[in-house]
Amino acid sequence: MPFTIAIDGPAASGKGTIARALAGHFGFAHLDTGLLYRAVGARGGDPVQAALDLSPADLARDDLRTAAAGQAASRVAAIPLVRAALVDFQRRFARQDPGAVLDGRDIGTVICPEAEIKLYVTASDEIRAHRRALELGADPAQILRELRERDARDAARDVAPMRPADDAVLLDTSRMSIDDAVVHAIALVKGAGA
Ligand code: C5P
Repeated sequence: MPFTIAIDGPAASGKGTIARALAGHFGFAHLDTGLLYRAVGARGGDPVQAALDLSPADLARDDLRTAAAGQAASRVAAIPLVRAALVDFQRRFARQDPGAVLDGRDIGTVICPEAEIKLYVTASDEIRAHRRALELGADPAQILRELRERDARDAARDVAPMRPADDAVLLDTSRMSIDDAVVHAIALVKGAGA
């Protein structure tokens, strides 16, 4: 039986780092689902067609991690047909042996509501902006504005809004080192039977 770990949360909460560490620890595959939306936004043209045509080469572009790519991703991610085009791929990925870790905004609520464990990773706005500013070498105040704009759009959209699943375990990383957050997450996943 494949084991699925669903991780959701806002931008720069630490969910990507935790997802990668869990995948490494348990020997599971990892999918950063934000990359799918970033790649759709980066292709330009009709976003629905871009989602239908998405190829591995699109996901390997080296300009997907920028703040501009994040904003473009969040705009195309609000389009229901874009989301629909990406569902099957994510669900197939989730059900592989021995297991898979997917991180995003709607993994526990829409993509994998049957996941063996769901984590919702958060941190305060200021701490998330500080972390992302260090990573991108950018102005923290500007990053804070952009994160808030993106989170507001992601949480307010009609289709698959960002929110914790009812049975998600909340993990607030504001006052944790990333190593502590990973140790905590590993214990939670083991507790769920991995
Ligand atoms: O996680 P990341 O910051 O790379 O995500 C970029 C954008 O993609 C998010 O702001 C969100 O709008 C969208 N996204 C989504 N659903 C997911 C993953 C990402 O809507 N499962």
